[in-house]
Amino acid sequence: MNSTQPTLIDGKRIAAEHLSQLKRQLSQWQSQGRRMPGLTVVRVGDDPASGVYVNKKAKTAQELGITSHIEHLSDNISKSQMMDTLERLNADDNVDAVLVQLPLPDHLDALEIMQHLDPAKDADGFHPVNLGLLMAGAHPVAPPCTPAGIIALLKAYDVPLAGSHAVVIGRSMIVGKPLALMLLNESATVSVCHSKTQNLSAMTRQADILIAAVGKPHFINANMIKADAVVMDVGINRRETAALSAEVSGASSTSKLVGDIDFDNVAPKARLITPVPGGVGPMTIAMLMRNTVALYAQRQGIAAL
Ligand code: GUN
Repeated sequence: MNSTQPTLIDGKRIAAEHLSQLKRQLSQWQSQGRRMPGLTVVRVGDDPASGVYVNKKAKTAQELGITSHIEHLSDNISKSQMMDTLERLNADDNVDAVLVQLPLPDHLDALEIMQHLDPAKDADGFHPVNLGLLMAGAHPVAPPCTPAGIIALLKAYDVPLAGSHAVVIGRSMIVGKPLALMLLNESATVSVCHSKTQNLSAMTRQADILIAAVGKPHFINANMIKADAVVMDVGINRRETAALSAEVSGASSTSKLVGDIDFDNVAPKARLITPVPGGVGPMTIAMLMRNTVALYAQRQGIAAL
């Protein structure tokens, strides 16, 4: 057991620092009479969780002075209508960055859709050209937001990456795969684990840095980590709790956000740990704003912070 208190990685604070730096940059451009960057978020269908994330992204953009727009499409939109939407956004000079909120309905293949987006407007860094840059060890203008947020947090807390063993649990296009490449590009030794990994604990116990992007509440417990590990939680799981107060007030249940890490159990053994909420989540949004500004600057041929 770690005798000292673990340090909480304050994603909310670091994200706020990134956002205020962007805000300064944007007000400078505004005072020079420049058009503000434009971000369009494409939402397909009515998944309530996606709705919350999309609204948060658009609202944060507006607060910074970014012109943001939500393109809300029906969940039975055809593939060709979806392609038409992307082509219209590709051709719109006032749109600098486009994000297609995932997951998409089953009849739309995310990779096929992403290939129709102009890579120079790819706010998520999911276009194969941009993922290919990561694979080649280069730096895309707009790297995938959650992995970029995790790397930014590790750097903000001076966690050494070169030579450390990072174990990533999850192999999605959104988090696991691009994060593994980005950590490798920082000279970490990287292991990627997933649902078919044998003896997961034997892997996770070797991690100097453990990153869980599994989507299972409290999946990681203290027995699965090495003492003094740095533990990053990407999970945002909604857990229904029939809280006493809710019963008293007449409401049937309330929902609570919990991560993939059993925080209370793991925290005493960790050196650094992210909370949920307030850890990785706010950084994803801050990195989206940074990507939007960077894509705008590239399209305008000007330098960004
Ligand atoms: N769904 C969950 N996270 C993300 C993300 O970072 N980008 C997109 N486009 N969809 C998501």
